[in-house]
Amino acid sequence: MKPTTAQVEAGQAVYTRNILSAYDILVLGISNRYIWKCPSARIASLYNTHVSANHLDVGVGTGYFLDRCRYPASHPRIALMDLNANSLAFASRRIERYSPETYRQNILEPLSPPLPQKPFDSIGINFLLHCLPGAIANKAVALDHLKPLMNPGARIFGSTILQGGVPRSWLARKLMGFYNRKGIFANTEDDLHGLRAALTQRFDEVDIQVVGCVALFSARAG
Ligand SMILES: C[S@@+](CC[C@H](N)C(=O)[O-])C[C@H]1O[C@@H](n2cnc3c(N)ncnc32)[C@H](O)[C@@H]1O
Repeated sequence: MKPTTAQVEAGQAVYTRNILSAYDILVLGISNRYIWKCPSARIASLYNTHVSANHLDVGVGTGYFLDRCRYPASHPRIALMDLNANSLAFASRRIERYSPETYRQNILEPLSPPLPQKPFDSIGINFLLHCLPGAIANKAVALDHLKPLMNPGARIFGSTILQGGVPRSWLARKLMGFYNRKGIFANTEDDLHGLRAALTQRFDEVDIQVVGCVALFSARAG
């Protein structure tokens, strides 16, 4: 079922300048370690393994991992894509040393011009899927929109917070319930099986590691 505009808006509306200023400490520092039980160092390591010198990041937030990861070249091409203008501005300022390209897009809709001129060798979609409304089979339309932007052999990678097929503490269940009621998360139907199916239907060499209630994944375009 296609999500309503209000549901799509809710998934990105929380990222105001003030929230973004606190995001690294509250989400990447505290929640990841103590509530979702996946320290951000695990995600940083995913970036270091898969990021290329020709990288697109979608759902950029504060650009924390893009700022800290090790690129395989000193002057990587980096493009940022997000529905929220605050996230794009915050992340692009943070990594302005790389002169990033920016694209404002709703990833649930077919991409509209201006589009990137050339495809990418890696795409990061970290903590994006659990913000997108719908069941995984439906929100995976985002992967269909991104696939044409991938060179042959390019990697898509990231992580997402799941409800099913992963261990969740009492606190994790409470906070996830709260975020879902507010529309900040939309992962009530997200489980490990659905994530694996969405990736294997579209990509090769799918790898998924579960750490706490976070699934860290990577896959390769054919
Ligand atoms: C939880 S933040 C993730 C930030 C960053 N990737 C990280 O891992 O710290 C989710 C990001 O996805 C963006 N977003 C949410 N819904 C979107 C949509 N439909 N299309 C594009 N971006 C979206 C939000 O604006 C926000 O910047």
